[in-house]
Amino acid sequence: MSQPLPLVAGNWKMNGLRASLTEAEALARQLDGNDAITAQVMICPPATLIAPLAAVLEGSSILIGGQDCHVNASGAHTGDIAAEMLADAGASAVIVGHSERRADHGETNDVVRAKAEAGYRAELISIICIGETERERAQGDTLNVVSEQLSGSLPGAATSGNTVIAYEPVWAIGTGLTPTLDDVGEVHQHIRAELTRRLGGDEGAAMRILYGGSVKPGNAAELMAIKNVNGALVGGASLKASDFWGIISVYSER
Ligand code: 13P
Repeated sequence: MSQPLPLVAGNWKMNGLRASLTEAEALARQLDGNDAITAQVMICPPATLIAPLAAVLEGSSILIGGQDCHVNASGAHTGDIAAEMLADAGASAVIVGHSERRADHGETNDVVRAKAEAGYRAELISIICIGETERERAQGDTLNVVSEQLSGSLPGAATSGNTVIAYEPVWAIGTGLTPTLDDVGEVHQHIRAELTRRLGGDEGAAMRILYGGSVKPGNAAELMAIKNVNGALVGGASLKASDFWGIISVYSER
């Protein structure tokens, strides 16, 4: 069976002013002039930059994603942003259930699932994040936690076309720490098995599973070579075009 098309997505988190758009422009120049790259590339900037980024990336193959959305399409929810608004501003995807939102905003699996469904409603790809804490890993609970988050956060309407899973061990985010390659492989294999059980063989095999957590140019090649790793969700190293390119270029035919 053919492998899913890899996706390398940069999550800028709460970083970036309009001046940062030059990094995206530099990346677009590098990517769009290079037909050896075999991965899709996405930037998920803060919501304020989605529309200006879409303008800067007009004609580029780089996709744009939001970092969160409200479950409703509109209404009295001061400060929140609907999936429809992200799409209207130029996004084609939305990250839901990032561990920083689960921790900072108390988002439960039910909320994350509803947000993923909101993404579908707006015809966005929902990138659903899951991952264990340091304590859960130390207790040997990683696979159970990942299973529970996946079963609770994945909507019934999920398909390989509308959903991407991102496995991000919480303790590896922004710390410079990564699991061993065997540990990453074990969790991704586990997620693949769960997806196959939920969605059937073809859909389960086709859904992309990204790894996230301290992915850098120096470790990307070995992480991306692991079976069932279909790309990366990159935080800090996506902010500079040169670093992000060092990760993207792992997926090069030449
Ligand atoms: P870092 O790459 O900075 O560790 O962040 C990972 C992440 O949380 C991406 O969503």
